[in-house]
Amino acid sequence: MKLITAIIKPFKLDDVREAIAQLGVEGLTVTEVKGFGRQKGHTELYRGAEYQVDFLPKVKLEIATRADGVEPIIDAICQAARTGKIGDGKIFVYDLLAAVRIRTGETDTDAL
Ligand SMILES: Nc1ncnc2c1ncn2[C@@H]1O[C@H](COP(=O)(O)OP(=O)(O)OP(=O)(O)O)[C@@H](O)[C@H]1O
Ligand SMILES: [Mg+2]
Repeated sequence: MKLITAIIKPFKLDDVREAIAQLGVEGLTVTEVKGFGRQKGHTELYRGAEYQVDFLPKVKLEIATRADGVEPIIDAICQAARTGKIGDGKIFVYDLLAAVRIRTGETDTDAL
């Protein structure tokens, strides 16, 4: 199993959620975060307002998936989240060692 973490522009959340849902992903965690990339957060336009600060608002998605789901999910996120402008975000993939569905006690891929 793998854990996909994607940092995206907040206004792209709905597009990305729809794209991922079409792949049959059963769950998703969303967190509002702040961060910076190579431009160090300077002079990036966000909803028309120019931020001159170090941290820009982003949305973090976390998706636990079978290993064979990683590639299609990454493709879907990239396609839905991309504007072609700076700050489109990043995707990180981790090995996921265990999962438990609390209500049923199912584990690992049965729990996803
Ligand atoms: N190396 C990193 N480690 C952790 N988080 C990162 C890293 N790089 C980017 N991020 C997160 O992703 C967000 C978006 O990064 P961003 O897309 O601006 O990266 P970039 O490398 O500057 O690419 P671009 O030149 O396209 O803007 C950041 O605000 C931060 O939250
Ligand atoms: Mg950047």
